[in-house]
Amino acid sequence: MATTDTRALALDATSAADLEASGLEYALVPADHEGFEPFLRAVSRGFLGEDPSADEVESARRALTPRRLTGVFDRSGVAPESPVATVDSWATELTVSPGRTIPLWSISAVTVAPTHRRRGIARAMLTGELRTAAAAGFPLAGLTVTEATIYGRWGFSPAAWASDVVVDTRRARWTGPVAPGRLDFVSRESLPERLSRVHERVRLERPGSVPGWEGRWRGVAGLTPDAKDGNKVRAVSYRDAAGEERGILVYTLDPGPNDDYSAHVLSVRALFADGDEAAAALWRFAIEHDLVGEVKASLQPAVPPVQWMVADRRAVTATLTDHHWLRILDVPATLSARRYARALDVVMRVEDPLGFADGAWSLRIDADGVAEVDAAPESRAVDVELSVGALSSLLLGGVRARELAAAGLVHGSAQALAEVDAAFVPDVAPLLDIWY
Ligand SMILES: CC(C)(COP(=O)(O)OP(=O)(O)OC[C@H]1O[C@@H](n2cnc3c(N)ncnc32)[C@H](O)[C@@H]1OP(=O)(O)O)[C@@H](O)C(=O)NCCC(=O)NCCS
Repeated sequence: MATTDTRALALDATSAADLEASGLEYALVPADHEGFEPFLRAVSRGFLGEDPSADEVESARRALTPRRLTGVFDRSGVAPESPVATVDSWATELTVSPGRTIPLWSISAVTVAPTHRRRGIARAMLTGELRTAAAAGFPLAGLTVTEATIYGRWGFSPAAWASDVVVDTRRARWTGPVAPGRLDFVSRESLPERLSRVHERVRLERPGSVPGWEGRWRGVAGLTPDAKDGNKVRAVSYRDAAGEERGILVYTLDPGPNDDYSAHVLSVRALFADGDEAAAALWRFAIEHDLVGEVKASLQPAVPPVQWMVADRRAVTATLTDHHWLRILDVPATLSARRYARALDVVMRVEDPLGFADGAWSLRIDADGVAEVDAAPESRAVDVELSVGALSSLLLGGVRARELAAAGLVHGSAQALAEVDAAFVPDVAPLLDIWY
């Protein structure tokens, strides 16, 4: 697990100078500093949320203490201590193939005050994050997005997708496996530890996944002060026949339409299953729950396996969305981190206006799927041309080069693209099962 303390890294000098030229100050905001409260208020305002209470500030302070929090300040304004822009980043790791991870610079809480928008502040912050990450040796950066139109210009592109799933339980009828283990209700207080334990096993096997953190699990459990529906949270644990906890389902129940008591909506807050048996047990529990007409779950696999476990697959609807956006900074380190399905020998010309990934790269994959990546000699012909965003989307094998070529985002002969696709096909479809 990556251990870099990102809080200790210097602020990017280019972004500091660009902001200073606009009369703005770029500064780190330690969570244990008095500047944290205005920082959190600015984040909440940026995401159209309510002003946090004193309890919420203290809870968020605990959760965000390990983070690198950066603010942009307009000292000439009426509230000079309140940032006009915010960003939160930290070192974590990304699973690139089952059992294989790579350091990831995660970015969150990007906001610019509506009073200071469209002056290049987001650009200064994002490019500053990328330069700081690259200088610290991070091979790629990632984020989850509220809008799909913002981050492509800095080389981010979707690499893992997720579905919002709705199951009409009256149509579904369970036909899937009947798991041999047992289910038990467990307390909310026990959930952060249980979720963390099961998720750690799950995320290491799933490309596109990252670890969670205590504050995230406390939020899922409804234990944070901002969890308005915390008292409604219920959870069951699945233990296999040997007694090992293999899965956790956390959910709430709400009245269904027209106050139909027999048709409550079961909303899944987390369903983490270490293995097919636990997944079947927990989905069956949700779908067969008495007095429930609909089960809703977000951040599920793009093609949800549960549709194969019910009599009427159209009782399951899945709405796909891009979820995990990645941005390669170091091509050799990133492409050589994962394992591939086939041998390959190509030269890729990557275009990166910010410079990090720009160049022609020789990608040689041996019969065991192990890659070697170097700057390509000028004598080698280029087989595939693409932007850094397109390469970031291809990384985990969640989209095919031929699909991106159809959109004009990748260029190469049909044979070269087919060979790339055959090599990049993943063991497991990429998925990120949390927000960050
Ligand atoms: C999105 C946001 C961070 C942009 O900040 P900003 O300082 O106004 O952006 P900049 O002035 O640096 O603009 C950089 C570029 O992004 C574009 N852009 C900015 N916001 C955009 C948006 N919402 N949709 C599409 N493009 C946008 C700008 O037009 C500019 O384009 P250019 O590079 O072609 O000139 C800001 O509007 C905001 O805080 N929104 C609410 C919170 C939010 O959605 N955060 C994103 C979390 S994932």
